[in-house]
Amino acid sequence: MASVKSDAFVFFGATGDLAYKQIFPALQALIRDGRLDMPVIGIARSGWSVEQLRQRAHDSLAEHGVVDQGAFAKLSKLMQYIDGDYNDGQTFARLRAALGGAQHPLHYLAIPPSMFVPVVKGLAASGCAQGARVIVEKPFGRDLKSARALNRTLHRWFREQDIFRIDHYLGKEPVQNLLYFRFANALLEPIWNRQHVASMQITMAENFGVQGRGRFYDEVGAIRDVVQNHMFQVLALLAMDPPVNRTADAMRDEKLRLFRSIRPLRPEDVVRGQFDGYRKEPGVAKDSTVETFAALRLHMDTWRWAGVPFFIRAGKQLPVKCTEVMVRLKNPPQRVFDDVDGEAVNYFRFRLSPDVIISLGARVKQPGEAMKGRPVELLAHRHIRKAMEPYQRLLGDAIDGDGALFTRDDCVEEAWRVLDPILDDAVPVHRYKPGTWGPPEANALIAGAGGWNDPRVEAPEG
Ligand code: BG6
Repeated sequence: MASVKSDAFVFFGATGDLAYKQIFPALQALIRDGRLDMPVIGIARSGWSVEQLRQRAHDSLAEHGVVDQGAFAKLSKLMQYIDGDYNDGQTFARLRAALGGAQHPLHYLAIPPSMFVPVVKGLAASGCAQGARVIVEKPFGRDLKSARALNRTLHRWFREQDIFRIDHYLGKEPVQNLLYFRFANALLEPIWNRQHVASMQITMAENFGVQGRGRFYDEVGAIRDVVQNHMFQVLALLAMDPPVNRTADAMRDEKLRLFRSIRPLRPEDVVRGQFDGYRKEPGVAKDSTVETFAALRLHMDTWRWAGVPFFIRAGKQLPVKCTEVMVRLKNPPQRVFDDVDGEAVNYFRFRLSPDVIISLGARVKQPGEAMKGRPVELLAHRHIRKAMEPYQRLLGDAIDGDGALFTRDDCVEEAWRVLDPILDDAVPVHRYKPGTWGPPEANALIAGAGGWNDPRVEAPEG
């Protein structure tokens, strides 16, 4: 059934970081592409005027180098600003008035999670939630209990199909390509199981710290910030069964089945780390035990994956900025040639950023008399990232009511179920030096599966 298009775009947190970094460029691009022609109403409590918000939007576009005079002029014209407190009914009464005849507003909560509930209540009490959709930013709750409570709150006023939980990783071209590559080809499926796959690992490395987001980050940590959402979504695309079709629910049903099969984590399956210097970051507690690095070992109880370990590693202040998946295949059952030394001979490497690579590791014979070989990579695909930005894709989909790239309530809760036992200080946090691959304790976790694949990032060409 085709969904109705939203007829007003409302964003809470209009003067904030997310709006500056992502929302203004996405809105301008949607206008440029003819996908957005409706009131754009920013809300915040910064004491600003609409002129200031326009200026802020322009600054954001200029900083991103994407000012498009025509589209920006249109955005400026569509833009309104409401200054007010999220706990004050007046703010929502003014929003109701600003919405005018709009029947299906889309409300984007680009605000800290602690503000979700007052805003949703305000929307409901003022009638602004009627016929509306809502976009929620991660993190979706802090644990299973709060995620359930948040879902319950949202469901009091919004139907599940009208709730769009953004995980911007799902809007990334190379992440979508994982799904495409797996299921548009027949070659992977016969080997994508416990008979042939020895292990899988995902590394999300960032070579910077918390970048002035200390206050936010210290309430969250790596597991809540990127593992529960981005990494679990990548994991799902790697390991789920084929969906019966491309609809949002078919896709999310398979993800749900996969998440359900993951055993709850035990402390011995997790290593947490914190980079030296983190506690000196503005907004971070002097005695913080929040992790800036996490490494996890996961097990799935399915016929496909029983006995195959899955690893996730994510951290700040690591040597490079790169997200990469390594799927190690089992080695040949018999050692015909004696130059292979126990390392995984065959593997798939999927690089999701900064560039996009799909490669297959194999050995080929070196020229000469001896039956000696060397490892090579058959490069399946490579291009430098420059596609539609995730937020443009995702906001456009939400406006159109297409939920395929958004996470569903039950999937979110299942992911928390897996992580719940190891949240907060359930496992100790180890120190690590900035510019290293995290605490050495993380190596022991994966020692039995050939160790971590540390992505190497070459300097960009040109
Ligand atoms: C965000 C996290 O969701 O994702 C950040 O809050 C992280 O801490 C970011 O840096 C990474 O996203 P990307 O698209 O830059 O890889």
